[in-house]
Amino acid sequence: TQPKAYRAAILHSLGDPAQVGLEASHAYYPDGVLVVADGRVRDIGPADEVLARQPAGLDITRFENRLITSGFIDTHIHFPQTEMIASYGEQLLDWLNNYTFPEERKFVDQAHGARVAELFLDELLRNGTTTAMVFGTVHKASVDAFFTASHARNMRMIAGKVMMDRHAPDYLLDTPESGYADSKELIERWHKKGRQLYAVTPRFAPTSTAEQLALAGKLLAEYDDVYMQTHLSENQQEIEWVKSLFPEQKGYLDVYDHFGLLGDRSVFAHAVHLEQEEAARMGETDSVISFCPTSNLFLGSGLFDLPGAEQRGIRVGLGTDVGAGTSFSMLQTINEAYKIQQLRRHKLHPLKALYLATLGGARSLRLEDKVGNLAVGKEADFLVLDLHATPLMQARMNNAHNLFEQLFVLMMLGDDRAIAQTYIYGECRYRRDH
Ligand code: GUN
Ligand code: FE
Repeated sequence: TQPKAYRAAILHSLGDPAQVGLEASHAYYPDGVLVVADGRVRDIGPADEVLARQPAGLDITRFENRLITSGFIDTHIHFPQTEMIASYGEQLLDWLNNYTFPEERKFVDQAHGARVAELFLDELLRNGTTTAMVFGTVHKASVDAFFTASHARNMRMIAGKVMMDRHAPDYLLDTPESGYADSKELIERWHKKGRQLYAVTPRFAPTSTAEQLALAGKLLAEYDDVYMQTHLSENQQEIEWVKSLFPEQKGYLDVYDHFGLLGDRSVFAHAVHLEQEEAARMGETDSVISFCPTSNLFLGSGLFDLPGAEQRGIRVGLGTDVGAGTSFSMLQTINEAYKIQQLRRHKLHPLKALYLATLGGARSLRLEDKVGNLAVGKEADFLVLDLHATPLMQARMNNAHNLFEQLFVLMMLGDDRAIAQTYIYGECRYRRDH
């Protein structure tokens, strides 16, 4: 296909500011050009340089007052919880029993799953999220519905069927054998089909028997490039419960460790109450944490120690954790991440936040050679941002003096209204209609 060029200001992440410093952590071209061909980035840089080396007659779309950046990466979200976001009043365990399980029951019906998957993917696109790591429900049909929809849109998604064989209503339980067989069937059907990838998904330690966790480990041993996703140390009551259910293990993380569930493709949501030894073990095994600020605040779970994880060399991504999270917007997620770090007397720099929401997320999901920034050769998932999306943003931006300030204002005031367009694999899949 003919290459297409997009001209606007361009900003993307090149590295973790904590590792390479603020300057080297990003590239910014006030007047930049991005060239896309066959779904991939062909060229990027200052407009004069790119245009000089590209053939004449290039098809150029010019955006005024817009900022192009790479798509956001949400490392933890539940698609079946889309229609129960903002459920009142409870912390984790009661929230699961009173709201979540009854909602997830509906996904026994594939048609219901198909409808919610479309709504969910629409919502991701309108918020500029181009890749996510996604929970289904216990029902195999929920994951078929999800991947059918995400594959049709050519979005790079990781998802899996929840495995849970105890401590939930009967209508939501599988068995060790059926959970294993259904997961295997889904891996065979969807893993690496187009841009789709599979994650073995034990919900969390309390809802799986030892037998089921062992079979989850067996799946990971059988398929060396599938992912694992679960929840870890989110809530004090949850942690006590895990200790009472698995008294022979040293603690919460050790339960997963015992069954072979740690590793560089294993993503643990929350981890807000890790013990020192557990944090060290996460680092040793190159396991990943998904930091879910809006969820951690909404359920009153706790304040994640980001610098602590960083010091251990643990890879961290950002997650919305919808429907315990209260927004699909990664901008709003950054907003609350910033405030959580403030309460911990730590400053979350906007360039670090950009890294976490893009390249850091890609590294967390072992997708750094495919997405996460707009380096030449990567898959062209990118956003056209409107820094003047609201009257307040416009007024505030006019009073911002440099990129750093503009980016911070975007992160504090921005949400879906700031996403003017979302491109997937070089194609515009969402356009704000005003
Ligand atoms: N722990 C186990 N299941 C869930 C869930 O659905 N959401 C959250 N936030 N935590 C969990
Ligand atoms: Fe979750």
